[in-house]
Amino acid sequence: MKILVTGATGFLGKYVVEELKEAGYEVTAFGRNQLIGEQLAGDAVTFIQGDFTKLSDILTASKGMDAVVHAGALSTVWGKWEDFYQTNVIGTENVLEACETNQIKRLVFISSPSIYAAAKDQLQVKEAEAPKTNELNFYIKSKLLAEQRIHEKKQIDSVILRPRGLFGVGDTSIIPRLIKVNKKIGIPLFDGGQQLVDVTCVENVALAIRLSLESEKAIGETYNITNDEPAPFKDILDQLHQEIGVPVRYLSLSYSLMYGVASTLEKIYTVFRITKEPLFTKYTLYLLKYSQTLSIEKAKNELNYQPKMTITEGIKNYAEHYRNH
Ligand SMILES: NC(=O)c1ccc[n+]([C@@H]2O[C@H](COP(=O)([O-])OP(=O)(O)OC[C@H]3O[C@@H](n4cnc5c(N)ncnc54)[C@H](OP(=O)(O)O)[C@@H]3O)[C@@H](O)[C@H]2O)c1
Repeated sequence: MKILVTGATGFLGKYVVEELKEAGYEVTAFGRNQLIGEQLAGDAVTFIQGDFTKLSDILTASKGMDAVVHAGALSTVWGKWEDFYQTNVIGTENVLEACETNQIKRLVFISSPSIYAAAKDQLQVKEAEAPKTNELNFYIKSKLLAEQRIHEKKQIDSVILRPRGLFGVGDTSIIPRLIKVNKKIGIPLFDGGQQLVDVTCVENVALAIRLSLESEKAIGETYNITNDEPAPFKDILDQLHQEIGVPVRYLSLSYSLMYGVASTLEKIYTVFRITKEPLFTKYTLYLLKYSQTLSIEKAKNELNYQPKMTITEGIKNYAEHYRNH
């Protein structure tokens, strides 16, 4: 079976390539970064350089494929709407059109549970609880629109995954940011950091993607994916910093004050069209202030998904890599 993986040059994509290769699939890795692509290429993996916002690139790359994993995206909390729209919405439309033209039956689309984001604690959120719209930031808005495009193209057998807070070796966003902010000023905490977070080892997300390609039941369905180990934010941070051997510092902040700061920063950055991410956004504050855990019962029951790596193992792996580099 031949599988095209978009976003293969990114954090998750590399693990997907590895998971599929190990399971015996022929993988075509797709991305713009030629250097990383060349490193991925080898036994059972071919690299095709391309940009999925260009229909011709994805049409050519997907010719002869049996399935596509669409993990490529503009995955960040700040930026211009035009960029999110082009990459995450038009890009997904192009992938769908390529699947249709090349008669590719199965598509696994990587969405995000950030679409559930709201100013309240949310425990054991189920897939069906997703809002129709959420304009907290452009990333969320674009992911919801991309999901809609997938639903509209009924002739493609698609599966949507919403994996929460990926971490692992190669992560360039969540853990490196926390380590950096800890070193610089300390990690901001609200209410003692007792909010529940529901993070996921990247290896487990790659597993869920493979299961989504293989399961007949999954067609037309959407699944939350986590490690199923909700824990207080502060406990995760304590464990991480203990493992990497760096003392952790916390900043106790007033939420209402910080919310005012974030709102003002967002307004200024929007008016002056500053693409650099503000120090705080409303979305990052929601992440720090409110509990959010997801129900993964559906993935367990229908995909037979069981996380293969625990959070403790994932943190230990990350720390070992961190100490040696
Ligand atoms: N990280 C998380 O915590 C998280 C959580 C939930 C969902 N997700 C979703 O999971 C997926 C993977 O995320 P990630 O963390 O691995 O992000 P990432 O490291 O930024 O990887 C995304 C990749 O997409 C590729 N890409 C972007 N625009 C492209 C284009 N126009 N044409 C071709 N390739 C393009 C980039 O490839 P090049 O570098 O080669 O350009 C990039 O390497 C995304 O869909 C993201 O929204 C991530």
